[in-house]
Parts: sequence; C-alpha cells; structure tokens
Amino acid sequence: MTCFERALEYTQIEQEPKNGKLVDNWPTDPKIKFENVCLSYGLKGKQVLKNLNFRIESKEKAAIVGRTGAGKSSIIVALFRMYDIEGNIFINSINTKTLPLEKLRENLTIIPQDPILFTGSMRSNLDPYGKYTDVEIWHAVKEVNLDRHISDLHYIVNDCGAHLSVGQRQLICIARALLDRHKIIILDEATSNMDEEMEALIHSTIDKHFKECTIISISHRIRQVLNYDKLLVMEEGELVECGKPKELLKNTQGVFYKMAQKANLV
Ligand SMILES: Nc1ncnc2c1ncn2[C@@H]1O[C@H](COP(=O)(O)OP(=O)(O)OP(=O)(O)O)[C@@H](O)[C@H]1O
Ligand SMILES: [Mg+2]
Repeated sequence: MTCFERALEYTQIEQEPKNGKLVDNWPTDPKIKFENVCLSYGLKGKQVLKNLNFRIESKEKAAIVGRTGAGKSSIIVALFRMYDIEGNIFINSINTKTLPLEKLRENLTIIPQDPILFTGSMRSNLDPYGKYTDVEIWHAVKEVNLDRHISDLHYIVNDCGAHLSVGQRQLICIARALLDRHKIIILDEATSNMDEEMEALIHSTIDKHFKECTIISISHRIRQVLNYDKLLVMEEGELVECGKPKELLKNTQGVFYKMAQKANLV
C-alpha cells in the first residue's frame, strides 16, 4: 500500500509546463546572453545567483571558475530552466523562457558533475532514441577510449551505472555528446575525476570534435582554463570578473590572479 500511496503522490506533483513557441532550426548561432539573472532554490531560499549579466559568443570556449558553492552549477541549472529564474537568458537571440522545455533541453548537451546512467545496455545509454547505427556508436566509444573497458554495445549497465567509476560515466556522456553533435556543450567538472592522461585525451577530443560548438566548462583546475577564450569568475553568486584569462591575470589585485597565485601559476 505504501507503493500505491507513493505512486498516487507522484501523479499529483506539479508538472513542468510543456507549452512554448517552436523556432525552426534553432539554434543556428549558438551565442548565449544572461540578462539580470537571479536564482533562488525554493520560495524562501537565499539568492544563489545575483543579477548576472554576461555574454558568451558563438563558438567561444568559456570557463566558469570559483570556490565551492559560488554558484557555478547553478548557472547551468538556470540555463536548463530546472528552476524559475528572474531575468532572461537568450540563446541565439531567443528568450529561453518562450521555448518549449523539451526543445530547449534537447539542444543542450551536458556532461554533469556526477552523471547517472540508466540500467540497461550500453547501446540504450548512448543512443536512448535509437537514432544511430551500431557503427556510429562504436566509433564514438572508441574516440573516448571506452573500448578499453567495454567489449561491445550489449555491455550491461547495472544499478544505474553504480559499478562504473565517475570518470567512466563521464566518458559515456562525452561519447553521447559526440553522437548528438549539439551546438552547445556544457562540462561540469567533467575531467576532475580522471587521471592526467585521460584528461589530456578528453581535452584533445573536445578540441577536435567540438570546434563548431559553444563550450561552457566548469573547472577547479586553474591551469586547465588558461587557454579558454573567456573566464567567468564567480564569488557567492555574483560574477566578479569576466574576460580573457591573460587580461584577468594583469590585475594583480583581482580574484582570478589570486586563484592563479594559489595554484603556483604566476
Ligand atoms: N537543489 C538545491 N537546493 C537548494 N540549494 C541549492 C541546491 N543546489 C545548490 N544549492 C545551493 O546553491 C549555492 C550554489 O551552489 P552550486 O551548486 O551552484 O555551487 P558550485 O559553484 O557549483 O559549487 P561546487 O564547486 O561545489 O560544485 C550553494 O549555497 C548551494 O548550497
Ligand atoms: Mg557544482
């Protein structure tokens, strides 16, 4: 009866809105603009994003840095419209609030901080909608060196992937991103659980295959973000610095300079 009770409760959960205006061929020009964006979790929660304003141009590689709890992942939460935000986010000049949620989310690829897989085969995890051929999927598997760990696409994923390491699960997400070829790729600490060799491989794979994409990467490793086009430095929900890494490093009193100093890079 407890199961029945729970199932009944689930039918009464408030549903996410399904409506919105479809736009053909969106996004052709994957630029992103945040305009006065504020976010708080729950009604009485404190603001975790405070009046964010920034732009990420098409095909730009941007990195978000900042301490734990600074609001980095919350920027991604806002982008995916997981919670209602104040202010507006535009992708390719379209306000994301006006798009159907499904359309918005299916055009963003994320490699999350702690990816969860579905119990089933490797194939169903890499291609849940059955859009690709086995050859295409295996090619993506090889690109991220996962063929070292799995023998074929019938490989069984048990218990939502609990028997795979976080790094391996992230590799599966990257392989999925390779297949989907969306124009906006988001990496949340995607390589923090990998050894250096694997990390270098992932970065070269991203450089090679995602040239035409806008990339937003969250990273704790300062060394890694130095060759990005743009850095967004977050502190307690506020965007405190934004610009090219080299320019930010010129400001010896700046937050990013201090981070680089701590990492022994300046
Ligand atoms: N689902 C949630 N409900 C309530 N509060 C949340 C939720 N997710 C995050 N927060 C709070 O929002 C703030 C920002 O969290 P966020 O996850 O964006 O930080 P972060 O910069 O990604 O940190 P980390 O580097 O540890 O991943 C924190 O104070 C956190 O406690
Ligand atoms: Mg985070």
